[in-house]
Amino acid sequence: MVQLSDRSDVPPFYVMEVMREAERLESEGRDILHLEVGQPSTAAPAGALEAVEGLLGTDRLGYTGAAGLPALRKRITQWYQWRYETDIDVDQVVVTTGASGSFVLSFLALFDPGQRVVVLEPGYPCYRNDLAALGVSAVPVALSADNDYRPSLSDLESCLPLDGLVVASPSNPTGTVIPEDQMRNLISWCRGNNVTLIVDEIYHGITFGDAPPTALGLLDQSPGETDAPVVVINSFSKYFSMTGWRVGWVATQPAVAARIERLSQSLTIAPPTVSQHCALAAFDCIDELEANVARYRDNRRILLEGLASAGLDKTAPADGAFYVWCDVSLLGHGSQHLAARWLDEIGVATTPGIDFDQRRGSDFIRFSYAGGADELERACQALAHWMNTST
Ligand SMILES: Cc1ncc(COP(=O)(O)O)c(C=O)c1O
Repeated sequence: MVQLSDRSDVPPFYVMEVMREAERLESEGRDILHLEVGQPSTAAPAGALEAVEGLLGTDRLGYTGAAGLPALRKRITQWYQWRYETDIDVDQVVVTTGASGSFVLSFLALFDPGQRVVVLEPGYPCYRNDLAALGVSAVPVALSADNDYRPSLSDLESCLPLDGLVVASPSNPTGTVIPEDQMRNLISWCRGNNVTLIVDEIYHGITFGDAPPTALGLLDQSPGETDAPVVVINSFSKYFSMTGWRVGWVATQPAVAARIERLSQSLTIAPPTVSQHCALAAFDCIDELEANVARYRDNRRILLEGLASAGLDKTAPADGAFYVWCDVSLLGHGSQHLAARWLDEIGVATTPGIDFDQRRGSDFIRFSYAGGADELERACQALAHWMNTST
């Protein structure tokens, strides 16, 4: 038997099974409608790709500093000023290998083994898996439709003592945005209780109501008795449409950023240089990126209307990101079985909720509307037909 660590024994992503089966069916010539994918169907913006092409023959593209290309760090601070009217300094920003790289570096910088960090359910599974792999205790707090899938202070209160809290706004899988007043309350509560707050803002830019402020912009208005850190994580993967380039960033107070930079020197040396140049140029492609968001807005309407007419109308608010979280408990199949049947019988690939909520996920399916409008329309028709004939 190979000797492996207990802490690396994290659960697999069940969506990978769906994707593998979808690929197998496609290789047999089946037409599969992809509502399982959690990434933009577009490439990096054209202007960013052009900038990279220009560099390939001319620049050595060696390592950058561990905290990232100075011009990119500077540009990120300007982004906070332009988008949110929030001033931050370059020494508060560390560029990382995607938001995923930011999680590992931040969790390592902030928590010791055995400490307790709240993760919300349903929520993005990597938070709990990364924490578990680092020996940190992930404390699940269940969200529900009753409070629009937002955390309440009384739920958090009941988990004290705590060392950290991870929230995403907008969230994957529910699309929930935490409104400004609630985010301010969360920050104050965390500071009052000496709890480090990590806010995953990766889906910022993809929202369909009022654009939420960055948590960094609320710090002055959210006093608390301690100076517990607030750490914002973002990425070029979603709004900037650059998943495979693997670039993200952390923005936080300088002492935390400095520690993350030091860890990064050893863990990765630096994020990929060519990708950082691409990211820098992507800031000049806002028109193209906003056109993507307009498409997500149309897609969202198509999917929500299509699901409702199929009778699948118990959905979370879907304020942002590109997902609809749907309660399918009344169908009584269990979401893994249901997703397998939809894939096999009508060629619609979806994500069973078990990845996002280990306790109640078999009652939910996540639909992604990051793809094309035509694909969504056909999927909704197929689901409506299935619901009429097969349940
Ligand atoms: C909420 C959330 N955070 C982080 C990530 C990972 O982002 P990245 O590609 O920047 O590592 C994802 C990817 O789906 C996500 O949904």
